Amino acid sequence: MHSTLSELPARPSNEGQIAAMFDRIAPRYDFLNSLLSLRQDHRWRNRMVSLIPYKPAGSLLDVATGTGDVIFAAMSRRKEYTTFTGADISAEMLALAGGKARERQAGNVVEFRQMSAEKLEIADASCDCVTISFGLRNVVDKEAALGEFARVLRPKGTLIIMEFFTPRSNLMAKLFDFYFHNVLPVIGGMFSDKAAYAYLPRSVSAFYSPDQLRGALYRAGFLVNQEVSFLFGGCKIIQAKRLA
Ligand SMILES: C[S@@+](CC[C@H](N)C(=O)[O-])C[C@H]1O[C@@H](n2cnc3c(N)ncnc32)[C@H](O)[C@@H]1O
Repeated sequence: MHSTLSELPARPSNEGQIAAMFDRIAPRYDFLNSLLSLRQDHRWRNRMVSLIPYKPAGSLLDVATGTGDVIFAAMSRRKEYTTFTGADISAEMLALAGGKARERQAGNVVEFRQMSAEKLEIADASCDCVTISFGLRNVVDKEAALGEFARVLRPKGTLIIMEFFTPRSNLMAKLFDFYFHNVLPVIGGMFSDKAAYAYLPRSVSAFYSPDQLRGALYRAGFLVNQEVSFLFGGCKIIQAKRLA
């Protein structure tokens, strides 16, 4: 049995507990993302998708896909790709993603599958690009996930990670801290699950720093190629290439 959500540690330690939390917040997830980021999340995802390399008949895997917004943005901007797969551990998130695919009549182009970033049921060297947005922070064994991304990517394939980080400037870090700890859980609690939105800032503090992430990427066989920052470094997109 899962322990209660209020017991969620800042550094995720139990995948079932994480899946249960996302199952619970799934119905209001898209709405709250837009509200809490003042619709910046769409802009950030579009920027992320603009870093997906051009690849005729390419294969894209979006890990921790949630309700599938990265995939749908990629499908409209990277039309030369022919295979789109979304992976997530939350059945409720995947059900919403599947519903959106049916609405867009894209059910035959995109496949959503329940699986963990730590153990992808995807063949070796079969993807041209792997994306993960606001997902890596929630994965229990992050090094195992990065190893899986390297395994499923073809040599020189592209990995794109988008995540929240603590901004470098003290003033911005304090503003972030205030928003994350005082505004976000209150609004999250009004519309969804307060404990889940209280977990978010704790998980950001416990996550890699950008330097630590670059180090983990290097150890997993990647070379960082490009970085984009929003919110004074509070949100970053890191594009890396799998070494041959
Ligand atoms: C904050 S949401 C991000 C969803 C989406 N990528 C976006 O940008 O809106 C995090 C997602 O990561 C998923 N997740 C957490 N741990 C995971 C794991 N080990 N493997 C796959 N998905 C995972 C959750 O179920 C959730 O849907």
